[in-house]
Amino acid sequence: MKLPWRNFPEQIRRLIVVWSFLIILPFFIRSLLIPADFGKYGHFRASAVEEAIAKEMKYAGHAICYDCHDEEVESKMVGVHKNVNCEVCHGPAAAHVEDDEIKPRAPRERDSCPLCHEYLSSRPTGFPQIISDSHEPMKACISCHDPHNPRGKEMAKECGGCHAEIASTKSLSKHVNIPCEKCHETPELHKLQPRLHLPGKPSKREFCGGCHDVEADSDIAIPRVELATHEEAYVCWQCHYPHLPEAE
Ligand code: HEC
Ligand code: HEC
Ligand code: HEC
Ligand code: HEC
Ligand code: HEC
Ligand code: HEC
Ligand code: HEC
Ligand code: HEC
Repeated sequence: MKLPWRNFPEQIRRLIVVWSFLIILPFFIRSLLIPADFGKYGHFRASAVEEAIAKEMKYAGHAICYDCHDEEVESKMVGVHKNVNCEVCHGPAAAHVEDDEIKPRAPRERDSCPLCHEYLSSRPTGFPQIISDSHEPMKACISCHDPHNPRGKEMAKECGGCHAEIASTKSLSKHVNIPCEKCHETPELHKLQPRLHLPGKPSKREFCGGCHDVEADSDIAIPRVELATHEEAYVCWQCHYPHLPEAE
């Protein structure tokens, strides 16, 4: 059978030629761009493995520093910087370990510590932070803090040491005299590992009702509501912020 090629009108023949070209072109380009050993082991170049192995090692790891710098190691081990690796501050030190004439950099400048300690609202609650513009400006951090074993405030003992905003809000509120623990049963370990041992929070209306219900068995003169009818469909803190309750 003869191809109907010549039966097609001229413009369709041209379109077929252009489209065949356009369809084949990407495959052609792909074959030029993708390296020959791609996909041998997985979705990567097989030779990338050798290249990575061949790269020069720049970090030595912290264990080897023990060999020669016991003083710094020992002082860091017992302090709050124990989990900050030596090379985080001193930079890659593999070359130094090979040849101690090559000295790692010691970050004595004032702007190095704020990389971790400058106040940022996204940092975790309780992480020691400063505003360097107002925290002892113009002086080197290491003139007061030992970089290997820094000390700041005594580890916060009060709730407000870490929950400063809530504590200062409450101190201006009608609830000023209610201790935090009255509403939040707090495990002792919360102050050491706060996220692993979270305190409790009130979960029922009856909790607030314990003081504020007209029936409540307390002799203090405080504003009372009928627990059964006062906005009974909601929990109290949908309307009254417990750290600054208002009744306007
Ligand atoms: C084989 C021994 C050895 C090892 C291992 C070693 N160092 Fe050193 N380091 C030295 C010597 C020696 C000096 C020079 C001491 C001097 O000048 O007083 C030095 C100096 C330093 C200095 C001071 C630089 C300065 O400006 O004063 C730093 C920082 C340092 N080492 C960091 C490290 C770190 C981090 C490690 C681990 C990755 C490490 N060293 C591992 C031997 C070693
Ligand atoms: C938080 C950052 C930081 C960490 C972590 C840190 N260092 Fe340092 N290190 C410094 C700074 C800053 C200096 C400069 C201190 C000075 O000049 O008083 C310094 C100084 C040194 C010196 C020189 C001491 C001297 O008297 O000149 C050595 C050696 C050293 N560090 C080793 C280590 C080793 C080993 C570790 C890990 C166990 C380590 N450092 C971890 C910041 C750090
Ligand atoms: C890589 C991040 C990092 C760098 C850089 C760093 N720190 Fe720290 N720093 C920490 C961590 C982590 C803690 C412990 C926080 C905690 O206990 O929750 C800490 C704690 C502290 C504390 C609080 C001590 C206390 O008792 O509350 C001080 C002060 C401090 N660092 C000073 C410094 C100084 C000075 C430098 C610069 C030489 C520095 N830090 C560099 C991560 C860093
Ligand atoms: C003149 C001495 C001095 C200098 C310089 C200094 N600090 Fe402090 N820093 C202190 C004292 C004292 C405290 C503890 C009392 C306080 O909280 O104000 C402290 C506390 C801290 C804390 C703990 C804050 C907390 O909430 O627990 C950090 C972090 C800190 N400093 C980091 C730095 C950094 C980073 C620098 C350099 C940019 C620096 N300091 C410079 C004296 C100093
Ligand atoms: C060492 C710092 C620290 C101290 C001290 C501390 N907290 Fe916390 N607290 C935290 C951190 C961190 C969280 C985790 C929540 C977050 O990311 O803000 C938390 C969370 C909480 C929560 C929320 C629990 C939840 O389910 O969301 C309550 C309530 C609380 N703390 C109450 C207290 C009370 C009451 C005290 C004093 C008895 C106290 N905390 C002391 C650091 C602290
Ligand atoms: C009158 C009871 C009461 C007192 C006193 C109280 N809280 Fe709360 N707190 C609550 C309730 C109720 C919630 C839950 C609010 C919610 O889920 O919206 C809460 C929530 C929290 C949370 C979770 C974060 C947030 O803002 O919702 C933290 C953290 C917290 N309280 C800390 C404290 C600290 C610290 C104190 C003392 C300074 C304190 N609370 C005193 C009742 C109280
Ligand atoms: C331990 C008892 C006690 C508990 C529990 C308690 N409160 Fe209060 N509440 C008080 C006292 C005391 C006052 C202040 C009375 C005064 O000085 O007028 C007060 C005041 C108030 C006010 C009035 C504020 C104003 O502007 O007049 C509201 C609203 C309030 N609390 C809501 C709550 C909520 C919501 C809860 C539960 C999360 C709660 N309270 C739990 C004791 C309590
Ligand atoms: C839907 C919002 C809402 C909820 C939920 C709610 N309240 Fe109120 N509450 C108000 C408003 C609005 C007022 C002020 C007007 C009034 O007295 O009714 C008020 C007033 C109060 C007063 C002051 C009464 C006085 O005489 O001054 C107290 C105490 C109070 N509420 C406690 C509670 C407690 C406890 C709960 C939970 C059992 C609760 N509220 C739940 C909205 C709410």
